[in-house]
Amino acid sequence: MASLKKAVQFSRTGKPSDVVEIIELETPEIRSGTVLIDIEAAAINPSHLLTLSGGYGVQPDLPAIPGAEGIGKIIEVGDGVTNVNVGDRIMIPPYSGTWRQQVVVDADKIEVTFPSEGNPMQMAMIMANPPTAWLLLKTVVNLKPGDWLIQNAANSAVGQYIMQLSHIYNFKTVNVVRREGLDNLISQSKGDICVIDGPDLGERVKEKTNGAKIKLAIDAVAGDSTQYLADSIADNARIANYGLLSGEPCKLSPEDIIFRNISLNGVWLTMWLRGRNSTKDQRASVYNELRNYIIEGKMHAQIEATYTLENIKDAVEHAMRQRNGKIIILPNG
Ligand SMILES: NC(=O)c1ccc[n+]([C@@H]2O[C@H](COP(=O)([O-])OP(=O)(O)OC[C@H]3O[C@@H](n4cnc5c(N)ncnc54)[C@H](OP(=O)(O)O)[C@@H]3O)[C@@H](O)[C@H]2O)c1
Repeated sequence: MASLKKAVQFSRTGKPSDVVEIIELETPEIRSGTVLIDIEAAAINPSHLLTLSGGYGVQPDLPAIPGAEGIGKIIEVGDGVTNVNVGDRIMIPPYSGTWRQQVVVDADKIEVTFPSEGNPMQMAMIMANPPTAWLLLKTVVNLKPGDWLIQNAANSAVGQYIMQLSHIYNFKTVNVVRREGLDNLISQSKGDICVIDGPDLGERVKEKTNGAKIKLAIDAVAGDSTQYLADSIADNARIANYGLLSGEPCKLSPEDIIFRNISLNGVWLTMWLRGRNSTKDQRASVYNELRNYIIEGKMHAQIEATYTLENIKDAVEHAMRQRNGKIIILPNG
Protein backbone atom coordinates (compact mmCIF):
# COMPACT_ATOMS: atom_id res chain seq x y z
CA MET A 1 0.00 0.00 0.00
CA ALA A 2 1.29 3.48 -0.87
CA SER A 3 2.52 5.60 2.04
CA LEU A 4 3.64 9.20 2.19
CA LYS A 5 7.32 10.04 1.85
CA LYS A 6 9.05 13.38 2.36
CA ALA A 7 10.80 15.35 -0.36
CA VAL A 8 12.26 18.82 -0.82
CA GLN A 9 10.73 20.90 -3.59
CA PHE A 10 11.29 24.34 -5.11
CA SER A 11 8.64 26.07 -7.21
CA ARG A 12 10.55 29.29 -7.89
CA THR A 13 14.16 30.41 -7.90
CA GLY A 14 15.59 32.93 -5.43
CA LYS A 15 17.57 32.84 -2.18
CA PRO A 16 18.21 29.08 -1.85
CA SER A 17 17.07 28.73 1.78
CA ASP A 18 13.86 30.68 1.03
CA VAL A 19 12.76 28.65 -1.97
CA VAL A 20 13.12 25.12 -0.55
CA GLU A 21 10.06 23.58 1.08
CA ILE A 22 9.10 20.13 2.38
CA ILE A 23 6.33 18.22 0.66
CA GLU A 24 4.91 14.72 1.02
CA LEU A 25 4.67 12.40 -1.97
CA GLU A 26 3.09 8.99 -2.31
CA THR A 27 5.61 6.16 -2.49
CA PRO A 28 6.47 6.07 -6.17
CA GLU A 29 5.20 3.03 -8.08
CA ILE A 30 7.76 0.97 -9.90
CA ARG A 31 7.30 -0.04 -13.49
CA SER A 32 9.05 -2.67 -15.51
CA GLY A 33 12.77 -1.89 -15.85
CA THR A 34 12.83 0.45 -12.83
CA VAL A 35 13.88 0.13 -9.18
CA LEU A 36 12.75 1.82 -5.96
CA ILE A 37 15.54 3.25 -3.81
CA ASP A 38 15.66 4.38 -0.19
CA ILE A 39 18.04 7.36 -0.26
CA GLU A 40 20.70 7.19 2.45
CA ALA A 41 22.70 10.39 1.91
CA ALA A 42 22.94 13.33 -0.50
CA ALA A 43 25.31 16.31 -0.52
CA ILE A 44 24.58 20.01 -0.91
CA ASN A 45 26.96 21.35 -3.56
CA PRO A 46 27.53 24.91 -4.86
CA SER A 47 25.80 23.81 -8.10
CA HIS A 48 22.64 23.09 -6.09
CA LEU A 49 22.72 26.59 -4.63
CA LEU A 50 23.16 28.00 -8.14
CA THR A 51 20.23 25.90 -9.40
CA LEU A 52 18.01 27.07 -6.55
CA SER A 53 18.92 30.67 -7.28
CA GLY A 54 18.38 30.19 -11.04
CA GLY A 55 21.98 30.55 -12.22
CA TYR A 56 23.10 27.04 -13.18
CA GLY A 57 23.96 25.84 -16.70
CA VAL A 58 20.87 23.59 -16.87
CA GLN A 59 17.73 24.58 -14.98
CA PRO A 60 14.89 22.06 -14.37
CA ASP A 61 11.25 22.75 -15.15
CA LEU A 62 9.54 23.84 -11.93
CA PRO A 63 8.38 22.59 -9.51
CA ALA A 64 11.40 20.33 -9.11
CA ILE A 65 13.15 18.23 -6.49
CA PRO A 66 16.78 19.30 -6.03
CA GLY A 67 19.71 16.93 -5.63
CA ALA A 68 22.01 15.86 -8.47
CA GLU A 69 23.74 13.05 -6.59
CA GLY A 70 23.35 10.60 -3.74
CA ILE A 71 23.62 7.04 -2.52
CA GLY A 72 20.84 4.63 -1.66
CA LYS A 73 19.72 1.04 -1.26
CA ILE A 74 17.38 -0.73 -3.64
CA ILE A 75 14.24 -1.89 -1.85
CA GLU A 76 12.18 -3.14 -4.79
CA VAL A 77 12.92 -4.11 -8.39
CA GLY A 78 10.52 -4.04 -11.34
CA ASP A 79 9.98 -6.79 -13.90
CA GLY A 80 12.84 -7.41 -16.26
CA VAL A 81 15.58 -5.92 -14.06
CA THR A 82 18.66 -8.12 -14.16
CA ASN A 83 21.64 -5.83 -13.44
CA VAL A 84 20.84 -5.07 -9.75
CA ASN A 85 19.07 -6.70 -6.82
CA VAL A 86 17.13 -5.73 -3.72
CA GLY A 87 19.63 -4.69 -1.03
CA ASP A 88 22.26 -3.33 -3.45
CA ARG A 89 23.75 0.01 -2.51
CA ILE A 90 24.11 2.17 -5.59
CA MET A 91 25.15 5.59 -6.85
CA ILE A 92 21.86 7.22 -7.79
CA PRO A 93 21.96 8.19 -11.50
CA PRO A 94 22.83 11.88 -12.07
CA TYR A 95 20.11 14.50 -11.68
CA SER A 96 17.46 12.15 -10.23
CA GLY A 97 16.43 14.64 -7.51
CA THR A 98 17.96 13.09 -4.39
CA TRP A 99 16.74 15.41 -1.64
CA ARG A 100 13.91 13.02 -0.81
CA GLN A 101 13.34 9.76 1.01
CA GLN A 102 12.67 7.54 -1.98
CA VAL A 103 13.16 7.67 -5.73
CA VAL A 104 12.39 5.41 -8.68
CA VAL A 105 15.06 5.23 -11.40
CA ASP A 106 15.63 3.22 -14.58
CA ALA A 107 17.76 0.22 -13.69
CA ASP A 108 19.85 0.53 -16.84
CA LYS A 109 21.05 3.96 -15.71
CA ILE A 110 22.67 2.46 -12.59
CA GLU A 111 26.40 2.31 -13.25
CA VAL A 112 28.10 2.19 -9.85
CA THR A 113 27.51 -0.13 -6.90
CA PHE A 114 29.11 0.01 -3.45
CA PRO A 115 29.47 -2.52 -0.62
CA SER A 116 26.35 -2.43 1.55
CA GLU A 117 28.36 -2.05 4.76
CA GLY A 118 30.13 1.10 5.88
CA ASN A 119 29.28 4.75 6.23
CA PRO A 120 27.49 5.97 3.08
CA MET A 121 28.48 9.63 3.33
CA GLN A 122 31.74 9.53 1.34
CA MET A 123 30.07 7.25 -1.21
CA ALA A 124 27.22 9.76 -1.56
CA MET A 125 29.63 12.30 -3.04
CA ILE A 126 31.04 10.19 -5.88
CA MET A 127 28.87 11.37 -8.78
CA ALA A 128 29.97 15.00 -9.22
CA ASN A 129 33.19 16.11 -7.58
CA PRO A 130 35.54 13.10 -7.94
CA PRO A 131 35.06 12.78 -11.73
CA THR A 132 35.36 16.56 -12.03
CA ALA A 133 38.77 16.34 -10.34
CA TRP A 134 39.67 13.46 -12.68
CA LEU A 135 38.57 15.43 -15.79
CA LEU A 136 40.59 18.47 -14.74
CA LEU A 137 43.72 16.40 -14.17
CA LYS A 138 43.44 14.01 -17.09
CA THR A 139 41.82 15.81 -20.02
CA VAL A 140 43.17 19.38 -20.15
CA VAL A 141 46.93 18.94 -20.51
CA ASN A 142 49.08 15.85 -20.66
CA LEU A 143 50.59 15.83 -17.17
CA LYS A 144 53.40 13.41 -16.45
CA PRO A 145 54.61 12.15 -13.06
CA GLY A 146 56.57 14.94 -11.36
CA ASP A 147 54.73 17.75 -13.22
CA TRP A 148 53.31 20.71 -11.29
CA LEU A 149 49.79 22.14 -11.30
CA ILE A 150 48.19 24.95 -9.31
CA GLN A 151 44.57 25.22 -8.16
CA ASN A 152 42.49 27.75 -6.24
CA ALA A 153 39.63 27.04 -3.79
CA ALA A 154 41.91 24.15 -2.87
CA ASN A 155 40.07 23.45 0.39
CA SER A 156 36.82 22.73 -1.52
CA ALA A 157 35.75 19.11 -1.98
CA VAL A 158 36.90 19.16 -5.61
CA GLY A 159 40.17 20.71 -4.40
CA GLN A 160 40.67 17.91 -1.85
CA TYR A 161 40.03 15.26 -4.51
CA ILE A 162 42.46 17.03 -6.88
CA MET A 163 45.19 16.83 -4.23
CA GLN A 164 44.44 13.18 -3.42
CA LEU A 165 44.33 12.11 -7.08
CA SER A 166 47.47 14.13 -7.85
CA HIS A 167 49.23 12.24 -5.06
CA ILE A 168 48.09 8.94 -6.60
CA TYR A 169 49.25 10.03 -10.09
CA ASN A 170 52.45 11.58 -8.71
CA PHE A 171 51.70 15.19 -9.79
CA LYS A 172 52.83 18.06 -7.56
CA THR A 173 50.28 20.62 -6.39
CA VAL A 174 50.31 24.28 -5.40
CA ASN A 175 47.10 24.83 -3.46
CA VAL A 176 45.66 28.32 -3.23
CA VAL A 177 43.11 29.18 -0.53
CA ARG A 178 41.57 32.50 0.45
CA ARG A 179 42.07 32.34 4.24
CA GLU A 180 44.59 31.32 6.91
CA GLY A 181 44.42 28.11 8.92
CA LEU A 182 44.08 25.56 6.13
CA ASP A 183 47.67 24.19 6.02
CA ASN A 184 46.65 21.06 7.95
CA LEU A 185 43.76 20.28 5.62
CA ILE A 186 46.04 20.75 2.61
CA SER A 187 48.75 18.46 3.98
CA GLN A 188 46.19 15.86 5.15
CA SER A 189 44.82 15.89 1.60
CA LYS A 190 48.38 15.20 0.32
CA GLY A 191 48.82 18.69 -1.18
CA ASP A 192 52.44 19.81 -1.60
CA ILE A 193 52.24 23.58 -1.03
CA CYS A 194 49.56 25.83 0.47
CA VAL A 195 49.42 29.57 -0.34
CA ILE A 196 46.95 32.37 0.25
CA ASP A 197 45.49 34.01 -2.87
CA GLY A 198 46.46 37.58 -3.74
CA PRO A 199 48.00 39.95 -6.30
CA ASP A 200 51.57 38.78 -5.54
CA LEU A 201 50.69 35.07 -5.89
CA GLY A 202 53.02 34.57 -8.87
CA GLU A 203 56.11 35.74 -6.95
CA ARG A 204 55.30 33.68 -3.87
CA VAL A 205 54.62 30.54 -5.93
CA LYS A 206 57.92 30.99 -7.77
CA GLU A 207 59.77 31.19 -4.45
CA LYS A 208 58.00 28.21 -2.90
CA THR A 209 58.44 25.93 -5.94
CA ASN A 210 61.98 27.08 -6.82
CA GLY A 211 60.68 28.37 -10.14
CA ALA A 212 58.90 25.16 -11.20
CA LYS A 213 57.32 25.30 -14.68
CA ILE A 214 53.63 24.88 -13.83
CA LYS A 215 51.73 23.44 -16.81
CA LEU A 216 48.15 23.58 -15.56
CA ALA A 217 46.07 26.02 -13.49
CA ILE A 218 42.68 24.89 -12.20
CA ASP A 219 40.32 27.77 -11.48
CA ALA A 220 37.08 27.50 -9.49
CA VAL A 221 36.96 31.17 -8.48
CA ALA A 222 37.26 33.37 -11.63
CA GLY A 223 37.58 37.18 -11.28
CA ASP A 224 41.04 38.44 -10.25
CA SER A 225 41.95 34.97 -9.08
CA THR A 226 42.19 33.77 -12.71
CA GLN A 227 44.83 36.43 -13.38
CA TYR A 228 46.77 35.47 -10.22
CA LEU A 229 46.87 31.88 -11.49
CA ALA A 230 48.07 33.12 -14.90
CA ASP A 231 50.88 35.01 -13.09
CA SER A 232 51.97 31.72 -11.50
CA ILE A 233 52.17 29.38 -14.49
CA ALA A 234 54.69 28.71 -17.26
CA ASP A 235 54.46 30.15 -20.78
CA ASN A 236 52.19 28.00 -23.01
CA ALA A 237 50.35 26.64 -19.94
CA ARG A 238 46.57 26.18 -19.73
CA ILE A 239 44.00 27.50 -17.29
CA ALA A 240 40.94 25.28 -16.83
CA ASN A 241 38.04 27.21 -15.34
CA TYR A 242 35.34 25.02 -13.80
CA GLY A 243 33.66 27.27 -11.21
CA LEU A 244 32.25 30.76 -10.76
CA LEU A 245 32.64 31.12 -7.02
CA SER A 246 33.53 34.84 -7.06
CA GLY A 247 30.59 35.63 -9.36
CA GLU A 248 33.01 37.71 -11.49
CA PRO A 249 34.15 37.19 -15.09
CA CYS A 250 37.54 35.48 -15.47
CA LYS A 251 40.27 38.12 -15.76
CA LEU A 252 43.20 37.31 -18.05
CA SER A 253 45.45 39.95 -19.57
CA PRO A 254 45.94 40.10 -23.35
CA GLU A 255 49.72 40.17 -22.72
CA ASP A 256 49.42 36.71 -21.15
CA ILE A 257 47.21 35.46 -23.99
CA ILE A 258 49.32 36.92 -26.81
CA PHE A 259 52.91 37.04 -25.60
CA ARG A 260 52.90 34.01 -23.29
CA ASN A 261 50.35 31.83 -25.13
CA ILE A 262 48.32 31.23 -21.96
CA SER A 263 44.92 29.77 -22.82
CA LEU A 264 41.71 29.47 -20.87
CA ASN A 265 39.15 26.69 -21.29
CA GLY A 266 36.02 25.60 -19.46
CA VAL A 267 35.44 22.12 -18.04
CA TRP A 268 31.91 20.99 -17.22
CA LEU A 269 31.14 17.51 -15.91
CA THR A 270 27.61 17.61 -17.31
CA MET A 271 28.99 17.63 -20.88
CA TRP A 272 31.14 14.60 -20.10
CA LEU A 273 28.19 12.80 -18.49
CA ARG A 274 26.17 13.53 -21.64
CA GLY A 275 28.82 11.88 -23.78
CA ARG A 276 30.96 14.77 -25.01
CA ASN A 277 34.44 13.25 -25.28
CA SER A 278 33.30 10.14 -23.40
CA THR A 279 31.64 6.80 -24.01
CA LYS A 280 29.59 4.79 -21.52
CA ASP A 281 32.50 2.36 -21.11
CA GLN A 282 35.00 5.15 -20.44
CA ARG A 283 32.71 6.70 -17.85
CA ALA A 284 32.22 3.31 -16.22
CA SER A 285 35.97 2.82 -16.08
CA VAL A 286 36.55 6.25 -14.48
CA TYR A 287 33.77 5.71 -11.93
CA ASN A 288 35.13 2.25 -11.14
CA GLU A 289 38.59 3.69 -10.46
CA LEU A 290 37.18 6.49 -8.25
CA ARG A 291 34.83 4.12 -6.42
CA ASN A 292 37.78 1.94 -5.45
CA TYR A 293 39.74 4.93 -4.14
CA ILE A 294 36.73 5.97 -2.05
CA ILE A 295 36.27 2.47 -0.62
CA GLU A 296 40.02 2.30 0.16
CA GLY A 297 39.86 5.72 1.86
CA LYS A 298 42.31 7.26 -0.65
CA MET A 299 39.68 9.79 -1.74
CA HIS A 300 37.47 11.58 0.74
CA ALA A 301 36.11 15.04 1.40
CA GLN A 302 35.67 16.73 4.77
CA ILE A 303 32.13 16.82 6.13
CA GLU A 304 31.03 19.63 8.43
CA ALA A 305 27.46 18.64 9.35
CA THR A 306 24.50 16.40 8.58
CA TYR A 307 20.82 17.36 8.48
CA THR A 308 17.51 15.57 8.07
CA LEU A 309 14.99 16.68 5.44
CA GLU A 310 12.85 18.45 8.04
CA ASN A 311 15.72 20.89 8.64
CA ILE A 312 16.41 21.56 4.97
CA LYS A 313 16.26 25.36 5.31
CA ASP A 314 18.93 25.29 8.06
CA ALA A 315 20.97 22.84 5.97
CA VAL A 316 20.88 25.10 2.92
CA GLU A 317 21.67 28.21 5.04
CA HIS A 318 24.64 26.34 6.50
CA ALA A 319 25.86 25.34 3.03
CA MET A 320 25.74 29.00 1.96
CA ARG A 321 28.08 30.05 4.81
CA GLN A 322 31.85 29.70 5.16
CA ARG A 323 32.43 26.20 6.52
CA ASN A 324 35.01 23.44 6.83
CA GLY A 325 33.41 20.68 4.80
CA LYS A 326 30.29 19.47 3.09
CA ILE A 327 26.75 19.60 4.36
CA ILE A 328 25.12 16.18 3.94
CA ILE A 329 21.40 15.47 3.96
CA LEU A 330 20.28 12.15 5.48
CA PRO A 331 16.76 11.82 4.04
CA ASN A 332 15.85 8.76 6.10
CA GLY A 333 17.50 9.97 9.32
N1 LIG B 1 32.48 22.46 -13.85
C1 LIG B 1 32.04 21.37 -13.25
O1 LIG B 1 31.69 20.38 -13.90
C2 LIG B 1 31.94 21.32 -11.76
C3 LIG B 1 31.64 20.10 -11.11
C4 LIG B 1 31.64 20.08 -9.71
C5 LIG B 1 31.90 21.25 -9.00
N2 LIG B 1 32.11 22.41 -9.67
C6 LIG B 1 32.41 23.66 -8.99
O2 LIG B 1 33.53 23.43 -8.18
C7 LIG B 1 33.57 24.41 -7.15
C8 LIG B 1 33.85 23.70 -5.83
O3 LIG B 1 32.74 22.84 -5.54
P1 LIG B 1 32.78 21.98 -4.21
O4 LIG B 1 31.53 21.17 -4.15
O5 LIG B 1 34.09 21.28 -4.15
O6 LIG B 1 32.77 23.15 -3.12
P2 LIG B 1 32.67 23.09 -1.53
O7 LIG B 1 33.33 21.85 -1.04
O8 LIG B 1 31.27 23.32 -1.14
O9 LIG B 1 33.58 24.32 -1.10
C9 LIG B 1 33.29 25.62 -1.49
C10 LIG B 1 34.60 26.33 -1.76
O10 LIG B 1 34.33 27.58 -2.36
C11 LIG B 1 35.16 28.57 -1.75
N3 LIG B 1 34.51 29.86 -1.98
C12 LIG B 1 33.22 30.17 -1.74
N4 LIG B 1 32.98 31.43 -2.13
C13 LIG B 1 34.14 31.92 -2.63
C14 LIG B 1 34.54 33.17 -3.18
N5 LIG B 1 33.68 34.17 -3.29
N6 LIG B 1 35.82 33.30 -3.56
C15 LIG B 1 36.70 32.30 -3.45
N7 LIG B 1 36.38 31.08 -2.95
C16 LIG B 1 35.12 30.91 -2.54
C17 LIG B 1 35.22 28.14 -0.33
O11 LIG B 1 36.28 28.77 0.34
P3 LIG B 1 36.18 29.07 1.94
O12 LIG B 1 36.30 27.74 2.61
O13 LIG B 1 37.30 29.98 2.20
O14 LIG B 1 34.81 29.67 2.17
C18 LIG B 1 35.43 26.63 -0.52
O15 LIG B 1 36.78 26.38 -0.84
C19 LIG B 1 32.20 25.11 -7.21
O16 LIG B 1 32.35 26.31 -7.91
C20 LIG B 1 31.37 24.14 -8.02
O17 LIG B 1 30.28 24.77 -8.67
C21 LIG B 1 32.16 22.46 -11.03
